Amino acid sequence: MSNNDLKVRVWRGSQEGEFVQYLVPRNPNQTVLDVVTYIQRKLDPTLSYRFACRVGMCGSCAMTVNGVARWTCRTHVSKILQGDSLEIAPLNNLPVIKDLATDMREFFNKWKGAVGFFKGDKTRYDDFTKVQPNSEERQLADAGIECIGCGVCYASCEVVQSRPNYLGPAALNRAWTLTNDVRDVQQLERMTAVAGDAGCHACHSQGSCTEACPKSIAPTASIAGLKKLVARAAVRGSKWGKL
Ligand code: SF4
Ligand code: SF4
Ligand code: FES
Repeated sequence: MSNNDLKVRVWRGSQEGEFVQYLVPRNPNQTVLDVVTYIQRKLDPTLSYRFACRVGMCGSCAMTVNGVARWTCRTHVSKILQGDSLEIAPLNNLPVIKDLATDMREFFNKWKGAVGFFKGDKTRYDDFTKVQPNSEERQLADAGIECIGCGVCYASCEVVQSRPNYLGPAALNRAWTLTNDVRDVQQLERMTAVAGDAGCHACHSQGSCTEACPKSIAPTASIAGLKKLVARAAVRGSKWGKL
């Protein structure tokens, strides 16, 4: 061990497991993903983790670092180091496949559950729908559209932790962007899905998801938008909201 080494505790196992400590040489501008990669390449090739782009585009490298969900490829060690120690674990609120790799099926199934996918009614023979860039709907959709599905907000949500069937911030944010997509034809199905017990009303609005999102998206605001639409529809006693 040199004085320059980082002490890195890494989760090994699946749901059951333990932290194992590794010593990793410190480097300037080193990211947490660099540290994990060093361990896998130089110290223990059996370590499992997930990454692809290394530049904050794919969303696959998210892990819990010193207790906080983050993109490891965009997190510099120097910014979050506690003394000379790092603790790296898989994302919370998701089953662990092995070591630092979580099973994302549940997360994306909830996007499906929130009808978080686009369906239009145009064919290749129809003209394009014109969406005005400055229309209210387009701007509301824009606020949440850059989500890359990394799961950081989901892993940071206390309600997901206590109510595993809750659709969660990412799926509801996606539902909100599609609610504001004038080309989409599943508005009734989507509002029925998000108005249910596992939907927007389960959110306590305290904003841990918004605080954690590395893309500065605010799922809390999207969920508030959904709550308003559902309430408006209830008052009207009619089918959903502005639909
Ligand atoms: S809203 Fe942000 S934190 Fe949540 S999945 Fe999308 S990009 Fe990741
Ligand atoms: S604001 Fe809602 S979705 Fe976001 S972390 Fe809190 S309960 Fe979860
Ligand atoms: S590796 Fe793609 S976002 Fe980190």
